[in-house]
Parts: sequence; C-alpha cells; structure tokens
Amino acid sequence: MKFMLSIPTFIQFGKSVSKKAGEVALGFGAKTVFCVYDKGVAKIATGVVETLKESGLEVIEFDSVLPNPTDSLIENAAQLARNAKADVVVAIGGGSSIDAAKGIAILLTNPSPITLYAGPPNLVKIPAKPLIAIPTTSGTGSEVTPFSVITVPSISKKVAVAGQFVAPAVALCDPLMTVGMPPSITASTGMDALTHAIESYTANNASIPTDDFALRSISLISKNIVKATNNGANIEARANMQLGSLLGGIVFANAFVGMVHSLAHPISAHCNVAHGIANAACLSYVMEYNAVEVPDRTIEIGVAMGLDLQEIPKEEAIKKVVSAVQDLVDAVKIPKLSAVGVTEDKFNVIAEDAVVEIPSQFNARTVTKEACLDVLRRAF
Ligand SMILES: NC(=O)c1ccc[n+]([C@@H]2O[C@H](COP(=O)([O-])OP(=O)(O)OC[C@H]3O[C@@H](n4cnc5c(N)ncnc54)[C@H](O)[C@@H]3O)[C@@H](O)[C@H]2O)c1
Ligand SMILES: [Fe+2]
Repeated sequence: MKFMLSIPTFIQFGKSVSKKAGEVALGFGAKTVFCVYDKGVAKIATGVVETLKESGLEVIEFDSVLPNPTDSLIENAAQLARNAKADVVVAIGGGSSIDAAKGIAILLTNPSPITLYAGPPNLVKIPAKPLIAIPTTSGTGSEVTPFSVITVPSISKKVAVAGQFVAPAVALCDPLMTVGMPPSITASTGMDALTHAIESYTANNASIPTDDFALRSISLISKNIVKATNNGANIEARANMQLGSLLGGIVFANAFVGMVHSLAHPISAHCNVAHGIANAACLSYVMEYNAVEVPDRTIEIGVAMGLDLQEIPKEEAIKKVVSAVQDLVDAVKIPKLSAVGVTEDKFNVIAEDAVVEIPSQFNARTVTKEACLDVLRRAF
C-alpha cells in the first residue's frame, strides 16, 4: 500500500461559520482585506464584508469576477490588490471567484503574469498571501484544492496553476451561503461535485483514504441533489450537498479526476459552457467507457448511490449504475451539449485537446480521440 495525502487547508464547516471571516483574517495579522466575488453573489458578499469591517479591517471589494475567469481578469484585480497593499484575500463565491482569488493571492507575492505558473505543479515558488475561501456553490471543491483553473482566451484553453502555495489557507464552509442558489446552478455545480467523487474513485491514483471520502461524497450528493435543486430552502439537503462537495474536493485534489474533466475543459474553453454542465452531459457515457477497466468500482459507485445490486450479473449491474447516473442528470434537467452552444464542428478540436489534458493520465482507461468523439456524439 502506497499513497500520498495532502489536505493543506484548515476547514471549518457548519451553519454561520462564514461569520468568522473577520476573526480568521485577524489571526493572519491582516489590516487590509481584498474581497473577491461576482455580481451574482453581491448580496451574500455584503454580509461577509460587514463581519470583516466589524472586526476593524479595511476592506477593498472586487465584485467583477466572471464565470470561467480569465488571466487578464486576474491581472487587473491583482493590480488593485497590490495598490491597496492587501495582506489577506477573501473569496466569496463559486469556483470562479475562488480560483480568481487564488491567482490574486499568488500575484500579491509573485511576479506577473499568472500564466507563468500554469502547467506542472509547484511553479509558484513564494507562498501566496493567505486566502480565506467561502464557497457559495456546492460544486468545485476549490475551497480545498491546490488548483486554480484559469481561462486563457488568446490560446482558447483552460490552464491550471497547481501546487503547495495555491490552496486556500482556510475554508469556511457555511451551507447557509448556498441557500439562494437557483435550481439550474444547484444542479450543474452539484453534478461537478458528483463527477469529482466518481472520477476520483475510478482514477488510477485512488487510495484507501480518498476511496472512503469519495464513496461518502457520492452517497451524499446522489441522495440530495434532487432535493436541493427542487427546494433550495431545504437546509439539510444544502448541508449534505456542501459536505459532499467538500469531500469531493479533498479526494480529487489527491486522487485526481479523469476523462470527464478532460472533455469538460476544452468544451468550456471552445464553447463557453458552464463547467458543471459540460461534466454532467458527459459523465454517464464516460462511466460506461471506463467500466470495462473498473467494473467492480463502477458497481460500488451504484451501491453508494443506494442501488440494490445484489445477485445481479455484473454487466447488468453496471448498466443499472450508468443509467442511474444518467437519470440523476436528467432529473435535475441538465441540458444536452447541443442546447448550450456546442456545435459539431468543434468535436474534433475538443477531442484532440481532451486526449492531452492532464486528467487523461489518471483515467482508468486509456483516453483515445475516438472514445472522446463517441462521448461527444452521445452527449450532444
Ligand atoms: N480549482 C478547482 O479545484 C476547480 C475544480 C472544478 C472547477 N473549477 C472551476 O470553477 C469554475 C466554476 O465554478 P462554479 O461551478 O462554482 O460556478 P461559478 O463560480 O462560475 O458561479 C456560477 C454562477 O453562480 C452564481 N452563484 C454562485 N453562488 C450563488 C449563490 N449562492 N446564489 C446565487 N447565485 C450564485 C454566480 O454568481 C455565477 O453567476 C470553473 O472555472 C471551473 O473550471 C475549479
Ligand atoms: Fe470539476
């Protein structure tokens, strides 16, 4: 048995823990805090900004993050943070705000441009300024991952900055922050979280600790995503989704993801599709492709989802698992790729990019261009 496990972020989980942001920032010796969010969560961010100000901190707000944040957005925000001499960064939002904030925190101590650090891990050599991440979606797990996913429009690619100085110092996971999420975002971000857990469980880098967290995450998300999507005020479902997403982030930071993410990144980069939708649209088809290599693990995913698969021939059990995952995708109304701006003329470039995406190295089965094209056709 051999594995590596890193959880570099200090996590506080529970209702109202976001109110501790000021106390945590003061713990880092902060005087000036740079708050990063997008206009969609402005109301939620106001509450956090208030708690920071009540702690006596000076607060500079950057409210202009956009989904799939770009390198230039991060450069511009980092310049504002440098001008303000910010000593702590607080991210309030989904993966886009947290990833942008990671880039900003890095550029407060390391020279620009942020793209210098994209590629293999640990290109960032100087510790970033402390980042406090407050997730408002239950999806990316970015609040605990050592990755920042950045869109670089000049090369039509999503790149990742990865390494020991990228993860947030503290994650304040407060399920109440997710209550206002509309159904479509609850669904797509929740499917991203489920994809992390499923892909990590079947990844060739999986280990006993990541397996346990992955199965728990699959169980929590598959049993709560429909409830949270249909009734956003269901606090128990929201808390279970946030925990599932947190565990999903921990597992994929260690075991990594696979072919679904390899496809989702170029789908988003070439066609500007939300990350969770791109994942969800491809998930069941990739599971079917991978099941040849990982039949038992595919069945275990179904058991974690609550399916009764005892005394059923393996092939039949696998079919049931794959269709249960697709049923979940359909139940939360994830659109097909053709409905979100993907066009058939992009299939070739998406498939070519997917083969060389880093997650492909961790996929249970070799990722070929033909297999990617097949998934794209079926997810279309
Ligand atoms: N760093 C990582 O480890 C990692 C992992 C997976 C994905 N990602 C990246 O994260 C990004 C996607 O993040 P995301 O899926 O969380 O979505 P997002 O951050 O792009 O947010 C999507 C939308 O949801 C809105 N929103 C968020 N929380 C809300 C709330 N509580 N109430 C109302 N509206 C709310 C936002 O305003 C935004 O319009 C992508 O760029 C993806 O590549 C990063
Ligand atoms: Fe993801």
